Amino acid sequence: MTIVSRFLSSAPPAFSAAGPRDAAAIAQLHGRSFGRGWDEDEVYGLLIDRAVIAHRAMSRRTLVGFIMSRLAADEAEILSVAIAPARRGRGWSRPLLDHHLRSLAGLGTRAVFLEVDEHNAPACRLYEGAGFREVGRRPGYYAGGAAALVLRRDLG
Ligand SMILES: CC(C)(COP(=O)(O)OP(=O)(O)OC[C@H]1O[C@@H](n2cnc3c(N)ncnc32)[C@H](O)[C@@H]1OP(=O)(O)O)[C@@H](O)C(=O)NCCC(=O)NCCS
Repeated sequence: MTIVSRFLSSAPPAFSAAGPRDAAAIAQLHGRSFGRGWDEDEVYGLLIDRAVIAHRAMSRRTLVGFIMSRLAADEAEILSVAIAPARRGRGWSRPLLDHHLRSLAGLGTRAVFLEVDEHNAPACRLYEGAGFREVGRRPGYYAGGAAALVLRRDLG
């Protein structure tokens, strides 16, 4: 890798709305980020769903992160968020989440919910830093016995 390409790959990504054409790249990143990956058809189905809001993080032409929520009335549930494994630990997840939350707020969302594995330290830190608070706990929800924390953040 040249000095220039190393510099460019460390530059912060740009955030924008994700659409059906991102399905393959999102499915690939999802598969590298979660035990049970979504296949391309599942992702495509979400991206064409009018109740689903999705954003992507692009480093030049490479998809390096995404986040997706489902809207229901004035609430939203974050379905998934991931940063590409090679780009983690650079503080990119928070601006991606903030961009997404601003967009949800602009659409009239008043409360955002999600579930996270209690042992997923980067994700828990991300959500805590962004003002999410625990409102529920599902013991033994994940394989291995970890609890799912149900988190909420009010918007606006
Ligand atoms: C969760 C995820 C998006 C976070 O992105 P990231 O690039 O790893 O994390 P960031 O560098 O943006 O840092 C986010 C926070 O986690 C902390 N963090 C990062 N790596 C960490 C680690 N290995 N252990 C503990 N905390 C960590 C950071 O310090 C930061 O907290 P701070 O703002 O209080 O300092 C990313 O790890 C990921 O894609 N994980 C796999 C998919 C996943 O689990 N998604 C969440 C499902 S609910």
